[in-house]
Formats: sequence, C-alpha cells, structure tokens
Amino acid sequence: MYSSKITGLGYFVPDNVVTNDDLSQWMDTNDEWIQERTGIKERRWIDPKTGETTSTMAVKASKIAIERAGLTKDDIDFIIFATLSPDMYFPGGGVRVQDMLDMPTIGALDVRNQCSGFIYSLSVADQFIKTGMYKNILVIGAENHSGGLEKSTRGRGVTVIFGDGAGAAVLSRTEEKGKGILSSHLHSEGKHAKELALEGPATQRWVPEIIAENDPNDVSYFPYMNGQFVFKHAVVRFSEAIVEGLQANNLQKEDIDMLIPHQANLRIAQFIQKKFGLPDENVYNNIQRYGNTTAASVIIALTEAWEKGKINDGDLVVLAAFGSGFTWGSVVLRW
Ligand SMILES: CC(C)(COP(=O)(O)OP(=O)(O)OC[C@H]1O[C@@H](n2cnc3c(N)ncnc32)[C@H](O)[C@@H]1OP(=O)(O)O)[C@@H](O)C(=O)NCCC(=O)NCCS
Repeated sequence: MYSSKITGLGYFVPDNVVTNDDLSQWMDTNDEWIQERTGIKERRWIDPKTGETTSTMAVKASKIAIERAGLTKDDIDFIIFATLSPDMYFPGGGVRVQDMLDMPTIGALDVRNQCSGFIYSLSVADQFIKTGMYKNILVIGAENHSGGLEKSTRGRGVTVIFGDGAGAAVLSRTEEKGKGILSSHLHSEGKHAKELALEGPATQRWVPEIIAENDPNDVSYFPYMNGQFVFKHAVVRFSEAIVEGLQANNLQKEDIDMLIPHQANLRIAQFIQKKFGLPDENVYNNIQRYGNTTAASVIIALTEAWEKGKINDGDLVVLAAFGSGFTWGSVVLRW
C-alpha cells in the first residue's frame, strides 16, 4: 500500500474587498455586531465585471499548486473538485477545470459536501493514491458565494458570513514512511439537512413551480442557516473529529503542531483551541479577512499557514471541518 502527501498548495481570492461597513450600506448590520459574533472584518466578493467564476478561481489556485509541486498539468492523473457553488447546475466544476487547464482526458469528480468538502475530497484522493490507481491528484475547494446571497436585511444572518475564494492541493504518492496523510475520518447526520441549506431550485421544487407560484416572499433559493443550532453542533462535532483523528494515530492533543479548523466562525475556532489547550501559534485562522469560504476555507488557510512558514517538515497537522448536511470530518497529516 502506498501513502499520499501534499506536494503543492495554492490559493486565489478575488481582489474586491467588502468590509463590514460596506455591507451596512445594503442591510441593517454593523461592524461591531459582525465582529463580535463571527470575528469577520472583511471578505472577498467577486466583482461581477471581472467575469470571475468558481472554476476560474479554481484554475488560478490549481496552477500555483501544480507549479509548486514541481509538476505540469500533464502529470495530474485525476481532479477532485469540492464546491457548493458550481458555475452551472450541471456539469460540475471538475470538467471545467480539466478544460480550462487544457489537461488530458483525465477523470474529474465533483464533491458536494459543503464546508467539509475539502476534507472529504482529500480523503477520497488519499484512497485512490493508497491503492496505486493514481500518482498525482489535484484536489480543489472553491466557492462563489457572493452571487447567490440575499444582500438585504432579510438575508443578513447568512450574507455577512460568507466569502469567495479558491484553494488547491496536489496530493502525490510518496514512499516516505510516516509522512503525508496518516488518516481521515468522515461523518454525516442528514436529519439536520434543512438547518443549513439552499433548498431550491432543485428537483424537490423545480423552476417551473417557483415561477408559477411567483411568491415575492419565497426565500428558498437563498441559503438558510439556523445559526445557533449550527453553532451548538459545530463545537461538538469539531471536537469529536479531532479526537478521533488523534486516537486513530495514538497521538495526544499536545502533539498537534498546527490545527487548521474550517473557518466557520472565529468563536467556534477559539472554543476548540481552548478546549484542546492549544497555543495561538498552533492554530491558524483567517476568517477575519475572508469570511467563511465553505469548501475553500480549509485549503486557503492551510496554504496561507504554509506560505507564512508556520508548517514545517515533520509537523503534525490536523485539518477539521463541519457544515451543511450536517457533514464533518478530519484529516491528520505528518508534513
Ligand atoms: C450566525 C451567527 C453569527 C448568529 O449569531 P447569533 O448570536 O446566533 O445571532 P441570532 O441569529 O440569534 O440573532 C441575534 C439578533 O441579531 C440579529 N441579526 C442577525 N444577523 C445580523 C446581522 N448581520 N447584523 C445585525 N443583526 C443581526 C437577529 O435578527 C437577531 O435580532 P433579534 O434578537 O432582534 O431577533 C451564529 O449563530 C453563528 O455563527 N452560528 C454558526 C454559523 C456557522 O458556523 N455556520 C457555518 C457552518 S459551516
């Protein structure tokens, strides 16, 4: 059996910075409320004039990751693309990246696991590499939230939280013993699906029905979040996923060199940090600058932490995420 390790990382965020004060022009909100509840100061939202999409951002992040891996696009054997905001309802983003990067006709898989999408994708990529089927897999998390948010007071509970961006990793086969992905742990609890969801348009309530109803109060095509319910589940599931990852590898919380939690809310990350007794330098957060970028959040944060020299050879890195589904999970890596 082979092992897999991350050999290249890249991210891209749009230039357009949207501050909390900017938001207060469109909705009844303010910087103090947003910072106090979420830690977010600003986020990046695509400027529609640029024509940027989920896939174009993914391509930019991917080019950096592939180059840093010392590879070319032709060395990549498979694409895994996590997003809840694809350019089109179908096909998904994977084939768009394959086309835009002018790659050979390799397989492209789309993962629909929202905030834990990158964790799931990394785990799937790891399995393909372990079995020997593929050598180098491009794993992407990218989101264009800004196009689909309700930018009014009615939508403020959700809209202020989410941002746009993309990250990519190249996962490669390695012969190095004890290096790379040590384990991954995936979970779901679908009975809470509606607590954080965008219900329509989808086959349960399809476009013709929505048009026929013509209901000005219909918010089913905007994301809905039961914030406090999500918060309570997130803190429990994050902790469980981290503990599970440590126990599977006979490790202690003191062994963690870098925890990258999904950037859902700074308060959640701080709660987890305190619970595990981790010093500030062993946890990386950037939600203050990017908001919650869902499937892109873990990979953007991982890339930034690595770029800043906060992750070094031999470090134990734990990635953990929780989100819509509910789905959650962790990946434990030895760098
Ligand atoms: C979303 C979240 C920040 C909201 O914080 P909260 O303390 O739960 O706030 P509530 O939703 O109870 O709202 C409190 C009040 O603020 C108001 N409010 C909501 N959004 C607001 C905003 N952007 N600006 C100002 N006021 C706002 C509400 O209308 C409510 O007013 P009321 O008391 O007059 O009814 C918080 O619940 C949260 O972070 N949850 C987890 C989110 C998460 O992790 N999501 C991603 C998972 S992947």
